[in-house]
Amino acid sequence: MNVGVIGTGHVGLVTCASLAAFGHRVVGTDQDAEKIASLRSGRLPFHEPGLNGLTRDGVVAGRLSYTCDPEAAIESAEAVFISVGTPPRASGEANLVAVESAARTVARHARGPCVVIEKSTVPTGTARHLRRTLERERADRATRLEVVSNPEFLREGKAVGDALRPDRILVGAESEWGFETMRRLYAPLLAQGTPMIETNIATAELAKHACNAFLALKVSFANALSRLCERAGADVVSVVDVMGADPRIGRGHLDAGLGYGGSCFTKDLLAFDRLSSLLGYDFALLREIGKLNREATLTAFEKVREALWNLEDKRIAVLGLAFKPGTDDVRFSPGLELASMLLEAGAEVAGYDPEAATNAKAEVPDLLISPSPYDALAGAHCVVVSTEWDVIRNLDWATARDLMSYPVVVDGRNVVDPCVMAELGFAYLPMGRPAIL
Ligand code: UGA
Repeated sequence: MNVGVIGTGHVGLVTCASLAAFGHRVVGTDQDAEKIASLRSGRLPFHEPGLNGLTRDGVVAGRLSYTCDPEAAIESAEAVFISVGTPPRASGEANLVAVESAARTVARHARGPCVVIEKSTVPTGTARHLRRTLERERADRATRLEVVSNPEFLREGKAVGDALRPDRILVGAESEWGFETMRRLYAPLLAQGTPMIETNIATAELAKHACNAFLALKVSFANALSRLCERAGADVVSVVDVMGADPRIGRGHLDAGLGYGGSCFTKDLLAFDRLSSLLGYDFALLREIGKLNREATLTAFEKVREALWNLEDKRIAVLGLAFKPGTDDVRFSPGLELASMLLEAGAEVAGYDPEAATNAKAEVPDLLISPSPYDALAGAHCVVVSTEWDVIRNLDWATARDLMSYPVVVDGRNVVDPCVMAELGFAYLPMGRPAIL
């Protein structure tokens, strides 16, 4: 099939590359000329394992190209994905200006029947507006344009695997033509047994928000439990292992720590809450999830302050600045948020991250960036483990102790072995587990 993809950010680019791998001819378009130029020269604008190879394969096979000219991406497309940004407005509501603009573009340039696919995460009800925009802006009255919702479930850092081997494909459509178009697009995945859940459009839109809200709820539940475990002398890791052994609960997203980051959970919770109130339902639980998340980062800050007393004239190493391993994304990163709080309190903060250092420095200019974890640790009075990259998990703690001024570890991700800490004489402060003082 000929496919257009509007918006070549994280989701858009993974969509382009995976559809090309499924055998379609894909044209990705973006209004950011610099980004398109960089993609054309083979450079991705962000770090995503495996994506470089997948996009290159698509380009070499002649199935993937990029253009700034939306007409070229749309005129002969049977399906166009809208994967533009939906940032939060001050009220928390998703800003859908770019989605509307993409719909106008499709309406003006489509030359034949075309299914317009919502890939960006949008609030329930968006399809209704999209349909009306397509109707109003259509260049040719006879052209059949139809809206389909096909939310993504891509995790940053694992997006390629998630796109090529998804747990499920979710499609909300209003006609057999819409469903059939999506079955053709995802034919190789259906052939390998991936289930396609077919619903009405409102259900698909709402299900995406429900998934992210529930995953965030699990993380916040684990973090609330860890506050309780600290007070009771229990170990949150064992508690969530027990919970996760029950298949009705599942072990995923129950790791306590500094809290969740990234744009998706934070933005989607705000948008979901706002949508709920617009629909006349007070979904108060959603606000509690965000509150518990802020509390998790604050708890880690208090652990550092308690361990070091005054923070002025103290050097603190923050290991991990990306919001999670496998990405250079620092949006709402709890590690970076903690680094800012420590700087604000007067500490010197040396940050290390294998991929996200440049983005972190741009966000928090006062942060000192270290080329290796050991450089960050030199002279430090405390180290915070904030992102569980392998290089940080596998740190040589004997060397770390020799480099540090005080042997104090705040383990914001519960990935350091407490026995090693005890053996080496560290003060060890994990999240929701017994501390070694
Ligand atoms: C999330 C969802 O997992 C995807 O399914 C969804 O498609 C995506 O949002 C989206 O809407 O685009 P992502 O934000 O990439 O994906 O990251 P997750 O792996 O879900 O992690 C989010 C945050 O939660 C990270 O900061 C991570 O460190 C934290 N987390 C995760 C925990 O603190 N504990 C856990 O047990 C799991």
